[in-house]
Amino acid sequence: MLPSLTARAQKIIHDTFDVDVEPQWQFPREVAHGDVTLSLALQLAKRVGKNPKEIADLLRTGLEKDPSVIKIEVAGNGYVNVWLSAGALQSELDAAMAAGSAQPIRKKEAPVIVEYSSPNIAKPLGIHHILSTSIGQAIANLYQHGGFKVIHWNYIADWGLQFGKLWVAHQKWGTRSVEDYSLDDMLQLYVKFHAEAETDSTLEDAARAEFKKLEDGDPAIRHFLDVITDSTKKANKHIYDRLNVAFDVEYGEGFYEDKMQPVIDEGKKKKVMKEGEKGALIVEFPEESKLPPYMILKGDGATLYSTRDLAQMRYRIDTYHPQGIYIVVDVAQKLHFQQLEATCKLLGWELPSFEHVIFGRMSFTDQAMSTRKGNIVKLDDVLNEGVERAKKKIDEHRASIQTDDEAELAEIMGVGALVYGILSQNRKMDIVFDWDKMLSFDGNSAPYLQYTHARARSILRKVTDPPSSADSGEAGVTEEELMLGDYERTLIKTLMQFPAAIAEARETHMPHKLANFLFQLAQDFNGFYNIEPILKAEGPSRAFRLRLVELTADTLRTGASLLSIRVPDRM
Ligand code: ARG
Repeated sequence: MLPSLTARAQKIIHDTFDVDVEPQWQFPREVAHGDVTLSLALQLAKRVGKNPKEIADLLRTGLEKDPSVIKIEVAGNGYVNVWLSAGALQSELDAAMAAGSAQPIRKKEAPVIVEYSSPNIAKPLGIHHILSTSIGQAIANLYQHGGFKVIHWNYIADWGLQFGKLWVAHQKWGTRSVEDYSLDDMLQLYVKFHAEAETDSTLEDAARAEFKKLEDGDPAIRHFLDVITDSTKKANKHIYDRLNVAFDVEYGEGFYEDKMQPVIDEGKKKKVMKEGEKGALIVEFPEESKLPPYMILKGDGATLYSTRDLAQMRYRIDTYHPQGIYIVVDVAQKLHFQQLEATCKLLGWELPSFEHVIFGRMSFTDQAMSTRKGNIVKLDDVLNEGVERAKKKIDEHRASIQTDDEAELAEIMGVGALVYGILSQNRKMDIVFDWDKMLSFDGNSAPYLQYTHARARSILRKVTDPPSSADSGEAGVTEEELMLGDYERTLIKTLMQFPAAIAEARETHMPHKLANFLFQLAQDFNGFYNIEPILKAEGPSRAFRLRLVELTADTLRTGASLLSIRVPDRM
């Protein structure tokens, strides 16, 4: 950023103090503090034993001469506040837009594996799945946009005693062929199994015996599992499509059946896994790690979630040589992942960057959502609910809404509201979801961003006489010709922060940092729009303002798409 100013600042510091620095420009919120600020003097004061104000004055005198500076002040106890020329702002804006756009995929670099969603088969996706699904997709999008090769991984839970139970239930009470079951049918069978098992203790034993058969490779139950896996994937695909979510790899836990033994052998050989109580195979960790033992095999030799996860890590490392493995799962599994990572390390595996990307619980302010009948609130129902509520919103705002496809608009708004309601909150905290807030047209919500985007596009549609190339500054526009107002400067300053917002959201795996940025951008755009004439402006001002409108619309669209949220052109 600001190469010539930065170089000057470096030179001043180098020549005076013989110190090399990497000046970081910041963007003050207050217009009274300039377009950009340097706090370098404050950071250096101790190191060079000088009063920060003196250093700041030195910087001011030196930077003042740069042609990109129209005004410069020392403020507070040593901040250097700079107002940039229109030309400098424009070239910084160009650079920021280039840096914020999708980067070409760096094919030679190792991929990043992002694992998310990971539902159970034979059950409809529940509302809680939206968290892992949306957070994971956003993180994957951010990597992809940054030029990383990304493997979108859905680690489907298709293994375990519950499938023995389902198989028993199907044989006892099944009403049709397995191929014809809907996810609801399967859920009902499963619920019935548990209800019956309360009075009939032989059922649990039968289920265990069937699961054992599955582990031993019995073709009939294996086939049953394949069929229900397939129907689950098909049913989920419809919801994933609505959410703009897609996967490259969907291996379930069962895929690792034959990949566990080598890991167990390795663990025993390296004495990382040893016999624990009742013949179980466990990993014990050094005392200072404070981790309790990790069970790898039960006393009866049965494998566990942990066994499959270890095999899965080995497989991913060997097959993809990834630079990162990021697994987006409920914070409730924190201990499991700490033990998993620690075990990989004890085994001496060379782990890539690894993170259990946690999230908290989600609750609705609307009681009806959490206390619905049945033991699962279906995600599809919640999406439909959002769309219904969006239709009502559209009705309320009928006078100001323009659309050629109301049903589509309601889908975009309703689904967007749910996804944005999650992604705009810090995932590490519990997420409280309020439909009214999330569908509001003037708060931190998807409809607000969507409406702002549509408003910007609508201005652009109204341009009947595009600015001349002279007004667009292709031949260079002087400072006198392009006077920038405070609202313009604020908007430019915010647009310039787009690349940093994306990078920060990606590096911290925190999509809400991008959401916050988009909200700020929408607010700054609306501030500008409400004050400055755009279509009625003249000459270079009109050309430049139209450009700001277009950059805002494009940035909102790109940013929203990184959160897997759509923005309409009309609304
Ligand atoms: N299916 C699991 C669950 O519902 C989540 C999978 C998490 N990923 C993993 N590699 N263990 O709890």
